[in-house]
Amino acid sequence: MSSFKVLAALAILTKAAGAASTSNGSLAITSWGAPRLDVFGVAPDNTIWHKYEAGSGFGWEPGNGLFENMNATAFGNPVATSWGNNRLDYFHIGRKSAAFHKYWDGFQWACILFSPPGEYSERLEGEFSSGLAVNSWGVDRFDIVGRSTNMTFLHKAWTGTDYYPAVDKWEDLGGNFSSGPATVSWGPGRLDILGVSAESGSMLHKFWDGQWSGWENLGGGPFIGAPVATSWGEGRLDVWAVHEDGELQHKFWDGSMYQGWKSLGGSFTTAPQVVHWSEGKIDIVGKNGSCYVSKAFDGENWYPSFDGWFDKEGNFASEPAIWANKGTNFIYVLGVGEDGQLKLQIWDGFNWQPAGDQYWDLGDTQNPYGKSVDFFVQDL
Ligand SMILES: *[C@@H]1O[C@H](CO)[C@@H](O)[C@H](O)[C@H]1NC(C)=O
Ligand SMILES: *[C@@H]1O[C@H](CO)[C@@H](O)[C@H](O)[C@H]1NC(C)=O
Ligand SMILES: *[C@@H]1O[C@H](CO)[C@@H](O)[C@H](O)[C@H]1NC(C)=O
Ligand SMILES: *[C@@H]1O[C@H](CO)[C@@H](O)[C@H](O)[C@H]1NC(C)=O
Ligand SMILES: *[C@@H]1O[C@H](CO)[C@@H](O)[C@H](O)[C@H]1NC(C)=O
Repeated sequence: MSSFKVLAALAILTKAAGAASTSNGSLAITSWGAPRLDVFGVAPDNTIWHKYEAGSGFGWEPGNGLFENMNATAFGNPVATSWGNNRLDYFHIGRKSAAFHKYWDGFQWACILFSPPGEYSERLEGEFSSGLAVNSWGVDRFDIVGRSTNMTFLHKAWTGTDYYPAVDKWEDLGGNFSSGPATVSWGPGRLDILGVSAESGSMLHKFWDGQWSGWENLGGGPFIGAPVATSWGEGRLDVWAVHEDGELQHKFWDGSMYQGWKSLGGSFTTAPQVVHWSEGKIDIVGKNGSCYVSKAFDGENWYPSFDGWFDKEGNFASEPAIWANKGTNFIYVLGVGEDGQLKLQIWDGFNWQPAGDQYWDLGDTQNPYGKSVDFFVQDL
C-alpha cells in the first residue's frame, strides 16, 4: 500500500515535469564553431527534433522544412553543448524523470559507455523536476546540473575517462530551489551554478574551482522563472533573473567584487537569453507576451536605453534561443512561432536579417518528420 502511494506520487511528478516541458518550452542551441549551429526542441508527441546549419549560406539540414528525429521521448527541455570541432553532447529528461545522453562523434550519434550507438540514448539515472543545465570547459569535459524531485541540485561530470561520481550516480549539492539551475564556466576548472531559493526567492550561488564553495546568497528578487548565467571571459560572471514585477535584474562579478542588482526593465516570466560575442558586449533577447524584445550593450551604452527594449515582433509560442560565436559579431535568434514554424533571425554585424521584426521559417515543429513515426522511444 505505501509503496503504491510512492509510485503514484512519482507518476504525478513525472507528469508534472512532462506538462512543463511541452513542445513550446525552450530550445537547446549550440555550436562547435562558426558557422555550424545546432538546434533541438520537443515535438507535440514529445519526440525530440534536431536541425543544424552546416554553414553553406542558409542551407539548413535536414532540408525541405524537415527535422531529424533524435529517437527519444522528452519530459523536459533538451540541452546541448560542444567541447570542440565535430563534437556535440545532447541531454534530455526522459522516462521516470531520469537524464539521458547521446553524442555526435563526427560520424554518428553514439553513447559513451553503452552500445549499440545510433538509435539509443545513454541513461544517466537521477530523478529530475526541472530541465538540465550543461556546460563544457574544455575537451573531454562536461558538467550536468539538474534539480532533483527533492528540489536540491544534482551534479555529474564527464571527466575524460569516466563519469563522476558514476554513470548512474549524482552528487547532491543540496539547497532548496524554486527554479532549475543556470550554469556557466569562465574557463577550465571553473563552474558557476545559480538557482532561485524556494524559501526567500533570492539568488543562490555555488562554484567549483578545484573544490566546491558553500551556497552563497546573492540576494535580489523575489525572482520568478529560471535564471540565466553568462561570462564573457576569465573572472567575469553575469547573473540574470526576472523580479516578480516582471523586470529583468542583473548582477555581475567583475573579477574582484559584485555589482548590482540593477533593473533593466521589460516584462518577462523567465530570464531572457544572453550572449557575449566579444568581451564587454552583451546581447539579450526575451519574450514579452508573444513578441520577442531585445537590448544590447556595446561596452559603454545600453541600446535602446538602460531600461528600454527594442520590439522584435513575432507571434511566438516558445522562449527565444540565441547564439553568438565569440569574435564573430554574428548573432542567431531562433524560436517556435504560434504557427508551429521554427523561426530564424540573424544579426550580420550591421543589420538584422531578414529584418529586425521579421523571421525566416525553417519548418513545422508540430509535424517535424514529414511522415508518421513508429520508431521513437529508444531510451535505454
Ligand atoms: C534514429 O533511429 C533511426 C532508425 O534506427 C536511425 O536511422 C537514426 O540514425 C537514429 N537517429 C539518431 C539521432 O539516433
Ligand atoms: C531525496 O531525498 C531522499 C532523502 O534524503 C533521498 O533518499 C533520495 O535519494 C532523494 N531523491 C533524489 C531524487 O535526490
Ligand atoms: C523548501 O522550501 C519550501 C518553500 O518555502 C518549503 O515548503 C519546503 O519545506 C522546503 N524544503 C526543505 C527540505 O526545507
Ligand atoms: C510588452 O508587452 C506589453 C503588453 O502587451 C506592451 O504594452 C509593451 O509595449 C511591450 N514591450 C515591448 C518593448 O514590446
Ligand atoms: C504549442 O504551440 C502550438 C502552436 O501555437 C499549439 O498548436 C499547441 O497547442 C501548443 N502546445 C502546447 C502543449 O501548448
